[in-house]
Amino acid sequence: MPATIVIGLQWGDEGKGKMVDHLAENVDAVARFSGGANAGHTVEVDGRRIALHQLPSGLLRPDVLGIIGSACVLDPVALTEEIESIEKEGFSIADRLTISGKVHLVHPAGRYIENINEIRLGKAAVGTTGRGIGPTYVRKFMRKGIRLEDAAVPEIFLEKSAVITDDCIEQLALSAELAGSLREEVDLFNRESIRLVDNAMDVSMVISRILTSEGSILAEGAQGSLLDPDHGTYPFVTCGSCVSGAACVSLGIGPVMIDEVVGVVKAYSTRVGNGPFPTELTGSLGERIREQGNEYGATTGRPRRCGWFDAVLANYTARLNGCTWTTITLLDVLSGIPELKICKKYELDPEIDRALFETGVRLGKHIPVYETLPGWEEDIRGEREWDALPENARNYVLFIEKLTGVQVKAISTGPAREDLIWRK
Ligand code: GDP
Ligand code: IMO
Ligand code: MG
Repeated sequence: MPATIVIGLQWGDEGKGKMVDHLAENVDAVARFSGGANAGHTVEVDGRRIALHQLPSGLLRPDVLGIIGSACVLDPVALTEEIESIEKEGFSIADRLTISGKVHLVHPAGRYIENINEIRLGKAAVGTTGRGIGPTYVRKFMRKGIRLEDAAVPEIFLEKSAVITDDCIEQLALSAELAGSLREEVDLFNRESIRLVDNAMDVSMVISRILTSEGSILAEGAQGSLLDPDHGTYPFVTCGSCVSGAACVSLGIGPVMIDEVVGVVKAYSTRVGNGPFPTELTGSLGERIREQGNEYGATTGRPRRCGWFDAVLANYTARLNGCTWTTITLLDVLSGIPELKICKKYELDPEIDRALFETGVRLGKHIPVYETLPGWEEDIRGEREWDALPENARNYVLFIEKLTGVQVKAISTGPAREDLIWRK
């Protein structure tokens, strides 16, 4: 598998980090291609739980090169803190990290703008992660952004950064006190950006060299397809493209270079932040799944909304991404629930056009039609053999496979690197 994309098929937090870390054992490089510090990818190695935000998850493997693609947005201060905290755990990171010089930087002004916008939206707020992601992409597409390669010429960089700071102070009419805090953050931002230029390279060239010398790469997606600004539940989405097609754009490789697209789905559904969620469980069962699955955000700590598996949406996102196979994660969380439901179709509101398949706010008007399957009592956490799974657990997986239309090759049964079943 010289070039494999790993992509989330729901609203993020599907367990991509765990899968990337697992698959990274035999690759030369892992390249993050979307998002920024809004992501939280948890990896469990030797009993240690590590959440990665901007760094590719494969970096916890000793000889893997980490790459950050051009379409990501990079917070240089948060990245430096992340590198330091992971290096304290005994992993060497800085000397194995290559960042695209074209990546747009998350200027501190972006966070100020985002937080004030979210407060102004009130009940209509998106429920963002507060990491300045949206305003950074807005500036990028207004052609007023600031990129890592700009920091190679510090005088020009500092001028650009000052313009962004002044724009923000004026636009938000910040008080002298807030303007002072922003300027302090900007000083740190400027310093860290200039320092990180040492890690900047043409990632397209780096990847092309790996692939032409018979090496292999994993392209690690962030967020999930239902948070994609084009294909997701707009406007309750993130701002960077996060479907598999974005990997080629971000990493600067042609589509013909891709061999496999691995879709990652949870055995149920979660979403953090606002927006439609047809199969949401708002009662005690939703709470039970949240507790059993430890469903609290790896970035913000917010409780995740939980619900039944939505095969209509998983079928849609498997198609969007061209998945060649999928992996079902967190199957162990469902142990002990007597009956499990899977949404197999929607009862459509007469006003909604089936052929159009709207994924905007009207998605929330769909009424799910469920298939009820018997659950299993056995604790399957850490199980590594398909045949050792209870029959009802196997049937649950097979039903998802049938409805999503893509082969389920692997099943994750726990957060640790080794907790995985490969189906024969
Ligand atoms: P990501 O954003 O897609 O990488 O996912 P997150 O790390 O945000 O959330 C997934 C959570 O589930 C993390 O706490 C993981 O440690 C955990 N996890 C991953 N796979 C499994 C699994 O198969 N079973 C259990 N119980 N936890 C898992
Ligand atoms: P990983 O990579 C889950 C959600 C936010 C919010 C919306 C917009 O860990 O799967 P943003 O800060 O991006 O402007 O927020 O997107 N969101 C995520 N939800 N997992 C993520 O990443 C997410 N990244 C963004 O909660 O609803
Ligand atoms: Mg996450």
